[in-house]
Amino acid sequence: MAGDIPRSIRLDALAYGGDYNPDQWSEEVWLEDARLMREAGVNLVSLPVFSWPQLEPQPGAYDWGWLDRVMDVLWEAGVRIDLATATATPPSWLIRSHPEMLPWDEDGRRLEFGSRQAYCPSSPVWREHVARMTRAMAERYGEHPGLALWHVSNEYGDHVSRCWCPESSAHFRRWLEARYGDLDGLNDAWGVNVWGQRYTAWEHIEAPRRATGPVNPTQLLDFERFSSDALLELFQLEIDVLREVTPDIAVTTNFMSLLRDLDYWDFAAAEDLVTDDAYPDPADPDAHVPAALNYGLMRSLKGGRPWLLLEQAASAVSWRDVNVPKAPGRMRIDSLQAIAHGSDGAMFFQWRQARYGQEKFHSAMLGHRGEASRSFQETKAFGAELQRLAAVRGTRVRSRVALVVDWDSWWGSSATESLPSQRLNWLAQARAWHAALHALGHPVDTVRATGSFDGYDVVVVPNLYVADAAQAAALAAFVARGGQLVVGPFSGVVDATETVHDGGAPGPLRSLLGVEVDEPWPIADGQAERVDLDGVGFGNAVWSEWLEVHDGTEVRARYATGELAGRAAATRRPSGDGAGAAWYLSAVLEPAGLLALFREVLAAAGLPVRSPIDSNLEAITRSDATTDYTFVLNHGRDELTVDVPSGAEDLLTGIRTTGRLTLGRFGAAVLAAPRADTAPFITLSDTLTPPTEAP
Ligand code: GLA
Repeated sequence: MAGDIPRSIRLDALAYGGDYNPDQWSEEVWLEDARLMREAGVNLVSLPVFSWPQLEPQPGAYDWGWLDRVMDVLWEAGVRIDLATATATPPSWLIRSHPEMLPWDEDGRRLEFGSRQAYCPSSPVWREHVARMTRAMAERYGEHPGLALWHVSNEYGDHVSRCWCPESSAHFRRWLEARYGDLDGLNDAWGVNVWGQRYTAWEHIEAPRRATGPVNPTQLLDFERFSSDALLELFQLEIDVLREVTPDIAVTTNFMSLLRDLDYWDFAAAEDLVTDDAYPDPADPDAHVPAALNYGLMRSLKGGRPWLLLEQAASAVSWRDVNVPKAPGRMRIDSLQAIAHGSDGAMFFQWRQARYGQEKFHSAMLGHRGEASRSFQETKAFGAELQRLAAVRGTRVRSRVALVVDWDSWWGSSATESLPSQRLNWLAQARAWHAALHALGHPVDTVRATGSFDGYDVVVVPNLYVADAAQAAALAAFVARGGQLVVGPFSGVVDATETVHDGGAPGPLRSLLGVEVDEPWPIADGQAERVDLDGVGFGNAVWSEWLEVHDGTEVRARYATGELAGRAAATRRPSGDGAGAAWYLSAVLEPAGLLALFREVLAAAGLPVRSPIDSNLEAITRSDATTDYTFVLNHGRDELTVDVPSGAEDLLTGIRTTGRLTLGRFGAAVLAAPRADTAPFITLSDTLTPPTEAP
């Protein structure tokens, strides 16, 4: 396929299905599976993810027969295949002949075979065999009519995302040499004059194993970058083979939601389709809120293109301490949420529940009780319902708000113990900021700190610890063209080498925000301070900063208690023409405080806000050139009544709206209407006012 035309999954419907492990079952069961898949509306399965040992039982001696047969059985049943390259786990014979490919932990202990992913990402032996196996799979099945997508490896970084073995150290040194050129460059970047860490030979540098005390922070940050890159190289190695042998087949690897360890901006750039595995905890009534942020990331990784939820649980998982099942209707609403956020389908781990091994208590679309199982009944019902949503395939989510996700800042602000406070948590900040925007009614895209910010009215940056001039310039340009930008605490602190910016934070963001941080002022454990915003006090238990405010910067909130009482806590600096503004929030406000601040920010951007709020209500619009598909979801057990535009058709029921909609427990509607200039903004009904009927 021509270079710039994106390859896409070979499937002309919303994807529905799951991981399938036929090598755990007899041929008789395969035939039954094919029948039941057809009955449930399954059109795609992922396999054979962990089957390398079954496909190559002895070095070089392949056994393709069983997989040939499975692929044919599925194809005849109309089920396509997300074909794994089977490189997620090495066979035991490879490990035993090359024990040096086993990964090491931070304490220098070698991890044993006996689980999965038992490999060091940098191992040359592993890489050689991975390339060989990938080629063998591509040559064997590249022409199979059922092949819809390549599924490379599985969840890179699951179990082993960093390896501290000698091979990794050698690879780390090569990576450092490429980054810094020579040892002087490295020594300068790492600030080695502190604690006497100057290196006089490359071989002296090791992966940062546990040391006598806090390790050099830049070494740690570089090791995070390197480790993400090492897995990306492994991914790229397979992609290169697949592009050579099967240039027309799209490639993916399944992500693990908003994961700290891998820079998914880079991973997504290497593949054709973003896919994700998401496991919101059914025990958490608010799990759909961080899920929404996760899905916002997935659709944004390729600039708004549809992605695919490749794994979720039909009910319980088996890897939490307590694995609560999904209540009736929960799997449906969770699936609809992912689709609402741009997923072109809903897939599961796994199709048939295992009877042995590590995941026998993990739910599946087809539970241990078979056709009678509740999970199969719900699977079948949802499979039928999905047919009614065919039109949303390929449409894109409309969002006016974006949140900056920057892995360097995540790593830098968490890799080292040498920080002002261990309580300021990058992920918690991102989630809290997103939760406020979610509650106020806005789906949130994610974006890099360099943009593009086109199409957004509000951009929020919960944390940009590592910041540079290019990011500052892009953010400033956004404000200059009228955008509302909100930057969070401990941003603009260091450059890419973890050297504090000249003059301190917020470094390159100083003139944009119009503030200077004299000193971060973390709050002691157990102490609760308050911030005053428009006369209301909000809790602040984690972090504050001594701010100096430039002329032309307005103070929007002040510390109300503690040593900083009376000083600025949140500021707003209008752009030259006053249309845009750069806000800075130096505190970690309790949720109500964030809501109050973001209400103001959204209003300044001319965007509506939901009032009253109910975080169980979620409304998202996917659109094409002519139609808006507005998903209205009730994630809670209590009924919600919402005001909706009249005359739209609910694709799930075929009924036309008359201005008001009541959604029961885990209820959902997908409203199709001609495309409007702005996506419909759905609010809770004021039940005292009669509904407005269509004229
Ligand atoms: C991950 C893996 C699957 C399975 C599920 C269980 O997503 O990719 O193989 O282990 O977890 O939840």
